Formats: sequence, C-alpha cells, structure tokens
Amino acid sequence: MQQVNLAENIYFLGFNDRRTHLFENIWPIPHGISYNSYLIVDEKIALIDTVERSFVDEFLDDIEDIIGDRPIDYLVINHMEPDHSGALKTIVQKYPGITLVGNKKTFGFVESFYMKPERILEVYDGHVLDLGKHKLQFQLIPMVHWPETMVTFEETSKILFAGDAFGSYGTLDGGIFDDEINLDFYEIEVMRYFTNIVGKYCPHTQRAIKKLTPLDIKMIAATHGPIWRSDLSWVLTRYNKWSSYDLDCGVVIVYGSMYGNTQRMAEVIARQLAVRGIKNIRVYDASKTHSSYIINDIFKYKGFIVGSPAYNNALFPNVEILLSTIEHMAPKNHYLGIFGNYSWNGGGVKNLKSFAENIKWELVYEPVEEQGALKPGNKAELLKLADAMADKLLAG
Ligand code: FEO
Repeated sequence: MQQVNLAENIYFLGFNDRRTHLFENIWPIPHGISYNSYLIVDEKIALIDTVERSFVDEFLDDIEDIIGDRPIDYLVINHMEPDHSGALKTIVQKYPGITLVGNKKTFGFVESFYMKPERILEVYDGHVLDLGKHKLQFQLIPMVHWPETMVTFEETSKILFAGDAFGSYGTLDGGIFDDEINLDFYEIEVMRYFTNIVGKYCPHTQRAIKKLTPLDIKMIAATHGPIWRSDLSWVLTRYNKWSSYDLDCGVVIVYGSMYGNTQRMAEVIARQLAVRGIKNIRVYDASKTHSSYIINDIFKYKGFIVGSPAYNNALFPNVEILLSTIEHMAPKNHYLGIFGNYSWNGGGVKNLKSFAENIKWELVYEPVEEQGALKPGNKAELLKLADAMADKLLAG
C-alpha cells in the first residue's frame, strides 16, 4: 500500500482483517477490523505496537520499505493483547538490539505470551523518551481494558497513540483519517467496539479521559479504526457519554421464545410503551440477535425488560448467555422489568429474579409469569409493567 503519514516521519502501518468472523472469538465483525501500528523515524526509531500475527510478513515488508536497513530502537507496547502484540516475537528476532518499552505490568505479559525480553525500558506516568525531534510521553490508563494499558503522546506532533481507546470495529476501506470517511458507517462500529471490549471498565475510562484532557492532543491514533484528526470531539464526546452511563429515554426488550408465547408478551409490553409515549423501543429475539448488538442498545437506553420461557426448568439458554454478558459488564443506571412463560414447571422467571438481584437495577414492577398462551389477567399485568416502566422513564 502507499505510505501514509500522520505527520513528518510518523507512519501508519495498518492492515485490514476481512477474514475473521468473531473478534476475540466472541464478537461478530461483519465489517471486519483493522489493526493499526505506527512507526516514528528519527535519530532513534520507535515502533508503536505491532499487529495481529497473520499480517506479520506484510508488516515487516512495510517497515523495511520505510527504514531500509536501519534497526528499530524501541518497540513501545501500549497494550499486550495479541491483536497488537502478535508480531512482537518476530520483531525482536529481526531487530535483536530492540528495547521493549512498557510499564511495570507489561513485561510479565511479554514473558507469559512470548519470551523473557533482553532489553526493556520500564516507564512510568509522565516519563518522556527522547527520539531526537520526537519525544514520547507515556501515560498509564490501567484497565482500559487490560492492567498494562497505557497511551503514548508524541509531544512534537501532539499525536496520541491511544491503543484500543477510541478504536472501532470495521476495516479502513481506503479512508484512514476521519475527514476521508463518511463516519455514519462507524457510528455503530465505534460504539460496539467500546461496549463489547471496554464497556466493563467505564469508571477506568472516565479516569483516563480526565487524565488525558490536559494534553494538547491534535490527533488520536488508535489501534483499530479511523485516525481522528479533524474532529476529535466526535469520538471523545461519545466515549464520555457511554462511559458515564448517560442513558437516553428508551427501552430494550429482549425475549427468548420457542413457540411464540413469550414473544407475544413482549409485543404487548412494547405496544403499551409506545402508547405511553416512549419512542425508543428496541425488541430483540435473543436467539437471533447477537449480544454484541443488544449490549450496544443497553448502553444507550435506560429501560431494560427481559422475558424468558422455562427451558429444562432453567432460563432459555440464549437469554442466559445475554444476561451473563450483562452481569459481566454491569452497566449502571437502568430500570428493569421481567416476565416469562412456562409449560409444566417454572425456571424462567425464577432465574430472572436471580439476575435482578445480581445486577441491582431497580425493578419497576412485579415479575409477570404466564402458563402457555397469554390470557387476559396476565395481559393486564403486562400493561401495568409497561406503565410502570414508562412512569419511571418519563419522570426523568
Ligand atoms: Fe485491540 Fe485489547 O486489543
């Protein structure tokens, strides 16, 4: 590919993955993903992160195209997850004099994943590494989203090499910088990357945003997705809203349903919410929509209503997977409603009650549980459940 510069002597080395179906072997990436690495050429040469290992050959070729026979002096490891450290071992083998730059949490991961490094530079908050004209300042942002995560701020160009923070699913289809792209495409993919990968660590993300705010950042170069240089507020505003659980008025309704009875209960609730003036209502069949997308809407809307039939005296499995994911991420500030259905014995609502206890969201109404087809008594209860949710949401 043509060489891409972020600034003079600062190069983009990115690769598009359109083959992988599931990121981390969990999250669907129908639009693929990019792995972005960066190279700074100065009196000393520094590589910022690497790429996923299936791209290592092209990665080495592209580096050589830029620096020829010169060695790389430093490999800055902002993040050790293998989608960025996958080429680490090969880089060390090709450039044996290289020094690995990380913080006190980094090198244990290097050793556990790859090898005991020979040359390391352990950096701390505010530590500056002088490359010549370029100065790399390191800021630790632990648990965004691993313990060792840090960012690298290049003080001359004012570029923030941000690791996963402010990254996105979706390949870079020609356009690499935000001003080269219609960002409508990334609206969902940036949010899914945040909610799926970073969403569990909202308080840490808030701390990171506050820590980085005093830096005079002109460009954000993440390890996935577009480079932000024309309108940094596009991504910063969104990250701030999501990580502070600033939720909109709306309801996500999720159900599992084998033969339609639980679905029918969900439809009654959804219709009543609309009658009450709730305009953002998203109804999902847990067997059809991957939790990656449902989680996104849970990070958007304040109301969550979940229904499950009993399945072998337990939750419907696809509902159970979603609820387990929600419990792991534990987003805050939600109102909750639960309902369910059974044929000969319970298990759906009973376990939804356990979810309610674990997640500690405010339950707006008593659980509604029907046996078989929906009958007038429980239909009236579902209307009350919807009314209770609408009352809470409309009260602000
Ligand atoms: Fe993109 Fe946490 O790795």
